[in-house]
Amino acid sequence: MNTLQDAVEKPGLSIVLGGTGGLGAALVQGLRERGETVLAIGRRTDPPLNFTQPASIAACAQRVADELSARGQRLQRLIVATGFLHGGTASGSRAEPERSWQHLDADALAHSFAVNAIGPALVMRHFLPLLPRQGPCLAAFFSARVGSIGDNALGGWYAYRASKAALNQLVRTASIELARRNRESLCVALHPGTVDTPLSQPFAKTGLTVRSPEVAAAELIAVMDGLTASQTGGFYDHQGQTVPW
Ligand SMILES: NC(=O)c1ccc[n+]([C@@H]2O[C@H](COP(=O)([O-])OP(=O)(O)OC[C@H]3O[C@@H](n4cnc5c(N)ncnc54)[C@H](OP(=O)(O)O)[C@@H]3O)[C@@H](O)[C@H]2O)c1
Repeated sequence: MNTLQDAVEKPGLSIVLGGTGGLGAALVQGLRERGETVLAIGRRTDPPLNFTQPASIAACAQRVADELSARGQRLQRLIVATGFLHGGTASGSRAEPERSWQHLDADALAHSFAVNAIGPALVMRHFLPLLPRQGPCLAAFFSARVGSIGDNALGGWYAYRASKAALNQLVRTASIELARRNRESLCVALHPGTVDTPLSQPFAKTGLTVRSPEVAAAELIAVMDGLTASQTGGFYDHQGQTVPW
């Protein structure tokens, strides 16, 4: 069975959506350091990608498709490292993880779903068809262990948990469709562990193992390299262990 390691040794492009974020940028750097061609895309890159502007997703995929065809290159790896936990929403309010149902807010829920689930779903629509129909290829969507329903013993963080759980179901569903196009494809959800980035900084508690983005990226690259097509549709952590749904 071919692994992704075999695949990346052939010329192919890796794309990191959210490649300008804490973890995304470290992944881009880690992949480039071993000689891969990597395109980092964020809200302020050219082309830009903003999940609260769905038309930008289709436009970005079209630009990538044109570029691939002009270079005669194939898309080998699509990594979606976008995510939202706290901060400003598209309508200008601020969202924080909810400690109680009393804090549930329509705007914060809508924004979390827009960035964590609906955006990645539209990425599936527009980018997955760019993956090759033959040979190993990967689509990896960054999720979070707190999106696991089976693992939820603490409660709270309603919008983030629920939108990541929705993402997990989208990933599982897309993996089935992608496998029908290409039996060697992989479509997975990944939990990066706790990483020192703007997303986690306000919540990093003593006692929790917080790793640098560089360390987390190296671990995640090793996990992606080691996955084989039989593992498509799964939810894996930064050590390659299966996370319960
Ligand atoms: N850090 C952790 O401890 C941790 C733990 C579990 C899971 N995760 C997951 O890991 C992934 C990476 O997170 P991170 O820690 O690197 O967070 P981060 O540094 O805050 O990066 C978030 C990324 O999401 C992008 N983004 C936010 N809103 C967007 C929007 N409306 N449209 C398009 N992109 C948008 C940002 O784009 P710009 O660069 O353009 O701002 C940025 O690239 C996320 O899926 C997160 O849920 C992180």
